[in-house]
Formats: sequence, C-alpha cells, structure tokens
Amino acid sequence: MKKIISLVTIFTFLFCLAGCSNDTNSNEGSLASSVKSEEETSANSDEVQTSGSLQESINQAEEAEPEETGVKALIVYFSHSGNTESVAEEIQNQTGADIFEIIPETPYTDDYNTLLDVAQDEKRNDARPSISGTIENIENYDIIYLGYPNWWADMPMILYTFLDTYDLSGKTIAPFVTSGGSGFSNTINTIKSMEPNAEVAEGLAIRDSAAGDPGDAVAEWLSKLD
Ligand SMILES: Cc1cc2nc3c(=O)[nH]c(=O)nc-3n(C[C@H](O)[C@H](O)[C@H](O)COP(=O)(O)O)c2cc1C
Repeated sequence: MKKIISLVTIFTFLFCLAGCSNDTNSNEGSLASSVKSEEETSANSDEVQTSGSLQESINQAEEAEPEETGVKALIVYFSHSGNTESVAEEIQNQTGADIFEIIPETPYTDDYNTLLDVAQDEKRNDARPSISGTIENIENYDIIYLGYPNWWADMPMILYTFLDTYDLSGKTIAPFVTSGGSGFSNTINTIKSMEPNAEVAEGLAIRDSAAGDPGDAVAEWLSKLD
C-alpha cells in the first residue's frame, strides 16, 4: 500500500512538473512573441518613421523647390507724383513680386517748377541723393523690375544712387519708365553701363497720361518677358 501511495505521489509530482514546465514555456513563448512584436513594431515604426522622415524631406524639397529653383522677383521703383507707382503696383498685382519703393531721405518739393530746378541741379552736379532704408537680401532676387519717371531725359539721380549701391550682377533688370513722351531717352544704356554684369531686358515705357490704367500694357509686356 505504501508503495502504491509513493508511486501515486511520484506520478503526481512528475505530472505537476511537466505541467509547470509547459506553463513556463508558454509564458516564455508569449513573452518572446511580445518582444518580437515589439521589435517588429519598433522596426515597423522605425520604417514608418524612416519613410515618414523621408516623406517629410521629399515634401520639404517640394515645398522648398519654388524658393530654390523658382525665379524670385523684386520691383524697385521711384515715383514722385504717383504715375510710376501706379505701374509698379500693377506689376506687383500681376506677378506677385516683392516691392521696394525708393524714398529719398530728403523729400522732394511738391512745387513742380521748383522740382524741375532741383532735378536739373542734381543732374548737373551728378548728385547721389540718399535713399531712406535698404533692401535686405537683394542677392535672393533673380529679376529686378526697375521703375522711374523720366526726368530731364534721364533717370532721377536717386536711381543712380540705387545702381551705385546694389550690385545686380547675374540678375535680369526689367526697366519701366513713365514720362511726358520722352520714354526711356538714353536710360537703358546708362543702366547697362552701371550694371555691366546684369542682363537688361526689353523695357516698358508708358506715358504719364496712361499710367493710371496700365493693366493691358503691363500684361503684354510681362508676357513678352516670359
Ligand atoms: C523734374 C522733372 C523732369 C521731367 N522731365 C521729363 C522729360 O525730360 N521728358 C518727359 O517726357 N517727361 C518729363 N517729365 C515728366 C515725367 O516724366 C512724368 O510726368 C512722369 O510720369 C512722372 O512720374 P511720377 O508720377 O512717377 O513721378 C519730367 C517731370 C519732372 C518732375
């Protein structure tokens, strides 16, 4: 009887042992599979992150592309009585270009006859009237739309200040002028000689009487420039 009890005890012990051992394995198995799945998840999430950051770079490159390879344009203009400004604003409307107004540090008189004399004196003295403010990062621009009124068959001398101040090498200058009828006079050649390393595109000349409604002329000019 004792032997039978001992045998039953031994079998029970062995049975338990086998059961526990299976449990341990199954725990190990499920732990291992959860580690694996964490690894996979981690690997997958790495993949996602990798492809995510790759996608981000692509998106950034696409977003950055217009800045990096697109043409960036700036309108720079001087206007005393508003005609050239009207054309400059129309160019901005049609192109979305940035814009910078050349404002004299010392304002010109509003008296027309006095202005004629002042402008003539400046021309005679080859003056360089100071510009209020500066253009930051002009190097970022590829095209400069350059606008001015015809003064005494020339650019106002403050345009000479601008061209002396900024090196426009490698850029395209697209000039536009308003006048009582003289058009550009010799100013295109002057711009070319002051900025010998810039390309000077065909300009747009508008009479002062037409400057208030320059939409069609600007559109036609821009389409030719393209
Ligand atoms: C000082 C001065 C000189 C000018 N000289 C000429 C000229 O030589 N030829 C011409 O056709 N118009 C001349 N004009 C007329 C202007 O070019 C014209 O009115 C222009 O549209 C003014 O531009 P704004 O309104 O942008 O200042 C002159 C105007 C001024 C004030």
